[in-house]
Amino acid sequence: MSLLLTGSVNAHVGFPDGMDILRSGGSAIDAVVAAIRRVEANPGDHSVGYGGLPNLLGEVELDASIMDGRTLASGAVAALQGYQDAIDLARVVMDELPHVLVVGSGASRLAVEAGFTSRDLLTHEARAIWDAPFTEAGTADTYRVRMRELAGRLSQDPERPHDAHGTVNVIARDAAGNLASGVSTSGWAWKFPGRVGDSPIIGAGNYADNRWGAATCTGRGEMAQRCCTAHSVVSFMRCGMRLSDALRTAAGDLHQLEDDYRSEVNIIGVDREGRHGAVSTAPGKTYILMTGDSHDIVELERTYVPPNDGSPMESR
Ligand code: GLY
Repeated sequence: MSLLLTGSVNAHVGFPDGMDILRSGGSAIDAVVAAIRRVEANPGDHSVGYGGLPNLLGEVELDASIMDGRTLASGAVAALQGYQDAIDLARVVMDELPHVLVVGSGASRLAVEAGFTSRDLLTHEARAIWDAPFTEAGTADTYRVRMRELAGRLSQDPERPHDAHGTVNVIARDAAGNLASGVSTSGWAWKFPGRVGDSPIIGAGNYADNRWGAATCTGRGEMAQRCCTAHSVVSFMRCGMRLSDALRTAAGDLHQLEDDYRSEVNIIGVDREGRHGAVSTAPGKTYILMTGDSHDIVELERTYVPPNDGSPMESR
């Protein structure tokens, strides 16, 4: 079976670690965790882990999930503060608790119990980016108004969508042909405190099932949540679609959503034979790939799915 790692472009710092695990006969799930762990530790990436951009209060809150395509075992954490290793903590949820998703103070409690090292996740650089468009909080009411204004402005700004929606995702296939997928993010920058996106929601931003394939999302999580995008891609393959058609259909469904804060959604998929593909609802997007045959990480174009794709929603 050919070894494979694919993911969002910012995963490149973790691919060598992930591929080392696959090459030494390790599992897809171990490779995904190792690759994402590196990204979470990278202060230069303001969309994930340490150095991630904070919520409206200036607090960094992390979301992550992991899924094992052998068994559909899953673990996730959301709104985690004070610990950078969100993907490792998601693995703890999967392996050690009879739960799938643990959030907020419960996630921090679990990190303490599991012996994780706490850290102030807000770097000077991330604070400076956060400060630029937003300087005061105001009362609860104006706070919500400001959130809406800021979200609208940022989602329309071609220079800044990565600030608002960056995420890392990785799908791995090991020597036994097993699939695993992981996603980690500091979420939507300037988000309302406690906001949880698609990344830790199994079926929305992440899904893996050895029998059909795996899919992961980046971009505006609220849209992927409403369409259960990752699970949709895998279900479309289960119903007989090729990966490329499954990805395009899922992107078409996203285009049909009404959303005042519409922004790009990007999807990566791998089918059960190990074929990979990726789409975006925005043009010019890329993803990366590494196989067991080479030490190179290749950057590939995502297929752009334009807005006229998909079945229109019935009018309400
Ligand atoms: N897709 C990441 C997020 O919306 O939080």
